[in-house]
Amino acid sequence: MCGINGYVGEREAAPIVLDGLSRLEYRGYDSVGVAVLQDSGEVSIHKRAGKIGDLSSELTDRWPTGKQAIGHTRWATHGKPSDANAHPHADCTGRLVVIHNGIVENHQELRRRLGDEHTFASETDTEVIPHLLENNLKDGMNLADALTKTMNQLEGAHAVLAMSADEPGVIVAARAGNAGGIVVGYGRGENYVASDLPALLPHTRNVVFLDDGDIAVVRAKTVEYRNGGRPVTREPQEVPYDPVSVAKGNYKHFMQKEIGEQPEAILDTIRGRANFAEARVDLEDVQISPSRLGSIKRVVLVGMGTSLHAAMIGRHYFERIARMPAEVDNASEWRYREPVVGPDTLLVSVSQSGETVDTLAAMELARERGCLQVTICNGIGSQATRMADGIVYTRCGLEIGVASTKTYLAAITALYLLACHIGQERGIIDRERMGGYLEPIAHLPYLAGEVLARGAEQEELAHEFARFDNFLFLGRGIHYPVVMEGALKLKEVSYIHAEGYPAGEMKHGPIALIDPDVPVVAVVQKGDLRAKMINNIEQVKAREGTVIAIGVDGDDELEEKADRTFYVPETSDLLSPVLTSIPMQLFAYNVAVRRGCDVDQPRNLAKTVTVE
Ligand code: M6R
Repeated sequence: MCGINGYVGEREAAPIVLDGLSRLEYRGYDSVGVAVLQDSGEVSIHKRAGKIGDLSSELTDRWPTGKQAIGHTRWATHGKPSDANAHPHADCTGRLVVIHNGIVENHQELRRRLGDEHTFASETDTEVIPHLLENNLKDGMNLADALTKTMNQLEGAHAVLAMSADEPGVIVAARAGNAGGIVVGYGRGENYVASDLPALLPHTRNVVFLDDGDIAVVRAKTVEYRNGGRPVTREPQEVPYDPVSVAKGNYKHFMQKEIGEQPEAILDTIRGRANFAEARVDLEDVQISPSRLGSIKRVVLVGMGTSLHAAMIGRHYFERIARMPAEVDNASEWRYREPVVGPDTLLVSVSQSGETVDTLAAMELARERGCLQVTICNGIGSQATRMADGIVYTRCGLEIGVASTKTYLAAITALYLLACHIGQERGIIDRERMGGYLEPIAHLPYLAGEVLARGAEQEELAHEFARFDNFLFLGRGIHYPVVMEGALKLKEVSYIHAEGYPAGEMKHGPIALIDPDVPVVAVVQKGDLRAKMINNIEQVKAREGTVIAIGVDGDDELEEKADRTFYVPETSDLLSPVLTSIPMQLFAYNVAVRRGCDVDQPRNLAKTVTVE
């Protein structure tokens, strides 16, 4: 969601901040703004609805000069996308500016309390923050103290940056709750603040991720931290990313690049964890004793969107590999139920970003109930990784396309390893069985590459099917989540209506939709469920439906049953979702491109959802 970027140093700040914001575009936004503390001592604000490029063009030949700036890309929650509602927002003097990510839940009450002596220029909840700061500064506080007091007046979760013409050389940043992260980047004689790493990587890899409740006082040469009103130490860490990894290179879209990176992402997730020689799985960040793991009676998996679909596949792994009772739920539903969980429950959260507000809230609830927690996460240093007792990083590097692809396949792989590890530590998987689980995973990166090599067939399919406005995706067993994800990919990047159903459900309603204009994508795996899927295909064909079947190499009968077929290589039943997911990603991508959609930044979507 909203992107945040700030700079203080010796160089012209506005172009640095706008460039940083453009590297955060993938987060999703509808308006943009920058405030520069000019050499003259005045604050100059430039903001508008629309894209960063529009603002940059507007500023051509009249860039505000100054060595300190904060900038923001806004994803509207309170108040429509408009020039006035774009951040930064100023106090009444115009000398103090604020950018913000989150929702001020008590903003109406705060506006009332601020009274008539404060004039508001927007409909946003955010605008109360500079006015509260203005009042608090009148009490003789410095900006950092005033921000500390202001944060205590706000309800909800927030990430805030502020600067004032009356305190040049300082940007203050605050994180309260789970409204997205704030990262401080350390340069030489200059420092940066951002909501996410891509804005910082061209400048530095030495960073500090703010903790809940942290305030950072960022100057060109120093950064001080406090939490709960007291100074705290935060040591910078070096993140293992480089700017090249977040560049598009020769690819047309990040989504295309990231789909292509999947064999490597799977390999990186396995590397050093699956010990093929000794038939063991050891997870470096899951240091939980066998006795604690042995005390677990059941597993609850949570996530949102694509991560939820990975979690649904993970449930099969916990049941079939670790032989543990497992259930899975949408984090935003689970957190508002009254789940009966406790110290004998393992909560496995799945989150690419590690900052999704509902997933974090579910983790918070699990923490209150004393559950053991492991998170499957890609975001190094993210909040989820700080809350969990164990982490399985998906080691994908940054994912920029809003549609999750490589992190999805890596999360499935990580869940597989976690189930193997927990089964091993609980003593229910012997060496021989573990060998059986590890053998197919060794081939998985190569087989994923094989599927990608068949991508040209997908382009033809997309060419043929891009004109349809409704799709049904059907699968059974472990491929039910796969088709849910296939449908999600198609709708989010191409805006085509698509639904994923367990194929057994088809006759209970969705079959009414079948006609020649509603193509059906059906995943036909080998094994017990194959015959059932063939029956479903027959039922669709009997109603003049068109079927695209995704099957396994060698299943030639499918050619007769379906209108179009796409084959993937054979692997174990448990790992087959990794391979059957790829054609659906390619299909969604190619259809979206043919329809001229903005593949990497689909309308209304944000990469990291930090509000409810
Ligand atoms: O960062 P997370 O994995 O927690 O994000 C959850 C969803 O917002 C996310 O998976 C979303 O559904 C995908 N971007 C869709 O491709």
